[in-house]
Formats: sequence, C-alpha cells, structure tokens
Amino acid sequence: MKNVYRKWYAHRITLGILLICLLVGGANALMNDENGKHDADENGLSNEDIQKLYKGKNALGHIEQLVNVGPRVAGGDAEKKAAKYISRKMVSYGLDVTIQKFPILYFEDKGSTLKVVNGHSLNPNTLFYSPSGEITAQIADCGLGYPENFTTCGASGKIALIQRGEIFFWQKVQNAANASALAAIIYNNQQGNFTGTLTFVTDIPAVGVNDTEGKYLVKLLKRKTVTGKIKVDTITENRTSQNVIGTMKGKDPEKGIVYLGGHYDSVSSSPGANDDASGIGAMLETARLLSTYKYKNKATLNFIAFGSEETGLDGSFNYIEKNRKEVSAKGIGMINLDMIGVGGKRLIGNIDNNSSNLTNYTRNKASAMNLGWKPFTAEANSDHTYFEEAGVPAVFIYQSEDPWYHTSNDTIDKINKVKLEKNGELATATIYGWAKNPQQRAKSGMPAGAASSLKKASVHHDILYSEE
Ligand code: BES
Ligand code: ZN
Repeated sequence: MKNVYRKWYAHRITLGILLICLLVGGANALMNDENGKHDADENGLSNEDIQKLYKGKNALGHIEQLVNVGPRVAGGDAEKKAAKYISRKMVSYGLDVTIQKFPILYFEDKGSTLKVVNGHSLNPNTLFYSPSGEITAQIADCGLGYPENFTTCGASGKIALIQRGEIFFWQKVQNAANASALAAIIYNNQQGNFTGTLTFVTDIPAVGVNDTEGKYLVKLLKRKTVTGKIKVDTITENRTSQNVIGTMKGKDPEKGIVYLGGHYDSVSSSPGANDDASGIGAMLETARLLSTYKYKNKATLNFIAFGSEETGLDGSFNYIEKNRKEVSAKGIGMINLDMIGVGGKRLIGNIDNNSSNLTNYTRNKASAMNLGWKPFTAEANSDHTYFEEAGVPAVFIYQSEDPWYHTSNDTIDKINKVKLEKNGELATATIYGWAKNPQQRAKSGMPAGAASSLKKASVHHDILYSEE
C-alpha cells in the first residue's frame, strides 16, 4: 500500500515538473517565436554554433533530389524541374522567392561522324554550338587557322583541318568560314580527346579529334588528296532558362546585400552531382539554418541558384544585367560555391588577387574553424565572374581536382559528405559574419574589366570564356 502511494506521489511530482516545464517552455516559445523558430543568443551564432547546427545530410538530400531529375541541361525540362524544387525549398524556409526568366540559346549534340572516304572512320567530338551539316569534300591542312593560313591552304569549298592552340576555337572556325571552307576539324595539340565550346553558333560545322587522328590526316595529306565525309547533328534553338532568387531581409536592408550562389544546371549526359548540385545543396542548407535561427544581421542575404552557367555564365550575366543598379549600390559580397564535394584541396580565391577583402575574410574564417585551405587565382569560369566585374568583392570556394568533372560519372556516390558539410559550414559562417557589419565592408571588387582574363573577351559576354 505504502509503496503504491509513494509511487503515485512520485508520479505527481514528475507530472508537476513536466507541467511547469511545458508552461515555461510554451511561454518562451510564444515570446520568441511565431513559427517554431529559435532565437539566436545575444551575440548571434558563433562558428561553433554553425558547425553544430549545419547538417551535411540535408545538403546531400538536396543533391539527391537534383540528381534524380536527370541532367539539368540549360533550357531543358529537367532544369525547370530543378528550379521548382529549389524554389519550393526556399519558400518553405520563409524566404521571398523570385524566379528571373531569361532567354538562352539551347544546344543539343546528337552526335557527329567523320570518315576518310575509302579509308578510316575517325572519332570526332562535336564542338559546342556547332551547326548541323553533312559535307563530303576534300580536306585542306590549314595550320593553326590564322587568317594568313587561309591565304595559302586553299580551303575554299573544302573541309579545313586546323591544329588546336593559340587562338580561340571560334576564331579558327570563323576564319575557315570566311575563306569559304564548308566545315572544320580541329585536332588536339596534346594527347587525347577533347571537348570544347565555340561560344556561339559558327557559320560552318566544326568537330574536334585527338592528336593521333589529326597527325594521321596531316601525314596523309602530304602524300595525296584526301576526301572526308563529315556529319554533325545538333539542335540550336531559342529557349528560356531561369535564376531562382531567395531573399532574407536584414535589419538594415539599405546597408548592403551579400549574395551566396551556385549553379543548378549541368552539362548534358552528366548527373552534375558535384558540378554543381553540391553548391546548391550546401546553399539551401545555409538558408534553412539561418532562417530557423531568425537571421537578424544588418545586411540582406540573397541566395541565388543560377541557371545556364554551363552555356557561358548566362544566369549570372542576366542577373547582373537586370539588377546592375542594386548590385553596384548595395552588393558588398558574393560567395560562389561550385564543385565543393569532391577532390583534394579546399581552394579559396577570386579573379583579381588584390581586389577582394572577402577572400581574405573567408580564408581567415577557414583557419579559425580549423579547415585547411590553399590560395588560388580564380578563372572567369563560374558565377563569381560578373559579380567581381560589377565591383562586388567575390570569393570562390571549391575543391580542386574532380576526376569525374563533366562526365557521366559525376554521381552522388562520389560526394564526400565531410567536405560537403565543412564547405557548407564555412560558407554559412562567412556570409553570416560578413553581413553583421555591412557598413564596414569596404567595396573593393575588381574594377570593371580589370582582370586580364575578362579583358581578353569582354567584347560580348558570349565570348567571355573560350578555350583555345
Ligand atoms: N564548375 C565549372 C568550373 C570549374 C571547373 C571550377 C573546374 C573549378 C574547377 C563550371 O561549371 C564550368 O564548367 N565552367 C566552364 C566555363 C563556363 C564559362 C562555361 C569551364 O570551366 O569550362
Ligand atoms: Zn560548375
């Protein structure tokens, strides 16, 4: 009897404590928190808080969803589906979401063939943006494809054979077209096959072959006339792509905007798990974390998933074009995450080495968080480029050496969860810290057109980046 009583009494105490806890907890929740969100403490989130709260497995979950829609080719249905997924997530975190549509030139390679008539079949790769065509004509050896080469090689009405190197692919091909050549074959100046972009639709079809096949043709041409049969099957058409922009207002929105971005499109026939579902997955987890903990630093945060990066930075180019005034007046920083889940070293840098105080801030942040890193000079090859050119201090974080880059093997099983998570934590701590005191963030982005890599091709954005 006594025992039962004691038990009951103990139960009553436990119940009482529970009730008090619930009441206090509930009142607390009511005071701080309308949407089940928690308040950050007085000093905001520390690096340690962020490392605790950031969940790499959420970022990985996003990668899985993005990969599952199939290769997210710019202007295609899978890219649109991915955009919807990203915007749904952003909305669920309470961000203000806008979708910016812009026109792009859709390109699809349906394959190419090259045959020496009465001889071997070779293994060409279609150069990106080559028009379709079927041509049977003599082949002419036109050196490196400078205009001078065409005054002597007699390419008119023929297929021009050109060596890779020194000038852009499109220059070689257009020089051939100007000399009335009907098609162009570019052969490698180093071992192996290669793929590359013409950066715009050239006037004649063009393919690339490896060095062995190139040298074979050169040798054959020294002995006799050679007729080639080239067939290129591609689709080029006008389509629409989109950027997904999620905004988290700061306490002092006039003071500045910090951008965190990556691209969600991928090249055809690649799942694009690392390039760049990794950057998008990490960015979404940053957005979740900061919204859950009631972000309230001064600067506004813009989370941007860029479309059509792989076609030549179309998404970020169009974002800057549309928002140039706001970006130049208020943009105080841009963090670009592109390929952060595979490879050896964490690289932190930007295009113009002397221009971005945000790069130094990020490097110091990494050291403070015990994350190893290496400095590097970025190329104009991802979405930081036009922000940096617009005068916004930019930083590009990525992992060097992805052996599966732009191949069908860029799959989710290659993603290193620790790298993904650590880079996500670094990006979160960086954007969070940088947004705290926006007025102190001197604008020191590269002056427009200053970086040599940009200068060389600043005529039109389409030829910003082009392989030689
Ligand atoms: N993620 C790559 C850029 C990259 C490659 C960064 C390797 C770090 C290491 C990006 O998506 C890409 O492929 N860019 C193109 C150029 C772009 C202007 C079309 C490239 O590098 O060929
Ligand atoms: Zn990329």
